[in-house]
Amino acid sequence: MMNIRICVLLICGALVASATAYALTPPKIVRMASAQGEVLFHHEEHQAAVNGCRDCHHEGLDVPRCRDCHGVDRMIPRLKHAFHRQCRNCHIKDDGPTECNSCHKKSL
Ligand code: HEC
Ligand code: HEC
Ligand code: HEC
Ligand code: HEC
Repeated sequence: MMNIRICVLLICGALVASATAYALTPPKIVRMASAQGEVLFHHEEHQAAVNGCRDCHHEGLDVPRCRDCHGVDRMIPRLKHAFHRQCRNCHIKDDGPTECNSCHKKSL
């Protein structure tokens, strides 16, 4: 599964580097492990809530994973901070859930 995804990324990158439309297939659900409790992020449902991919993937989709930048370089805010800022701020603004356990599930 992972290998297929990496292949798709490489092929898309090579073939449509200059195309305007995104050719990446977004995941349906992203599971994020965390000490506070796993977060299940329904990617597909969230796409409808914004204007475009760039509202979240603010650096574009050449590097779609937040964790490839946040937490890697000291000059970039760490992952927890980046997620809480982006996820929670929108939930506060657009009436999404803000309780800790609405995102962090202690037992799954
Ligand atoms: C509401 C925020 C949000 C929106 C809107 C959004 N994404 Fe995402 N996307 C995420 C998050 C968060 C992840 C998980 C990042 C991580 O694991 O570090 C992700 C992961 C991905 C991944 C998987 C990366 C990987 O290999 O694990 C792809 C591909 C992707 N998004 C494409 C898209 C596309 C295309 C769109 C627009 C149609 C889009 N996303 C819109 C937040 C969003
Ligand atoms: C290619 C690298 C890269 C990727 C991928 C990336 N970011 Fe960032 N992000 C940055 C950098 C660099 C900054 C600092 C920008 C600045 O200071 O102006 C930043 C800043 C932020 C901020 C503002 C933090 C603050 O203190 O105000 C948020 C929120 C954020 N990113 C969330 C995300 C999320 C969520 C994802 C994945 C959907 C993501 N980022 C993907 C590089 C990246
Ligand atoms: C652009 C705005 C926006 C962003 C960014 C956003 N959300 Fe949401 N989210 C919403 C809204 C609006 C709802 C309420 C949807 C509803 O009730 O139908 C919601 C609902 C949820 C829910 C409860 C429903 C479900 O899908 O399980 C969870 C959990 C959730 N979001 C997690 C996250 C996480 C984790 C992130 C960051 C990776 C995130 N959200 C980023 C707008 C956003
Ligand atoms: C809108 C969704 C959302 C809400 C609400 C939320 N979080 Fe988070 N939180 C996340 C995401 C996404 C991560 C990053 C998970 C990862 O590291 O993969 C995270 C990470 C964390 C981490 C870091 C865990 C680790 O393993 O490093 C802590 C601690 C945390 N959250 C505490 C809280 C607390 C306390 C609250 C309530 C005040 C809260 N969170 C509310 C989404 C949320």
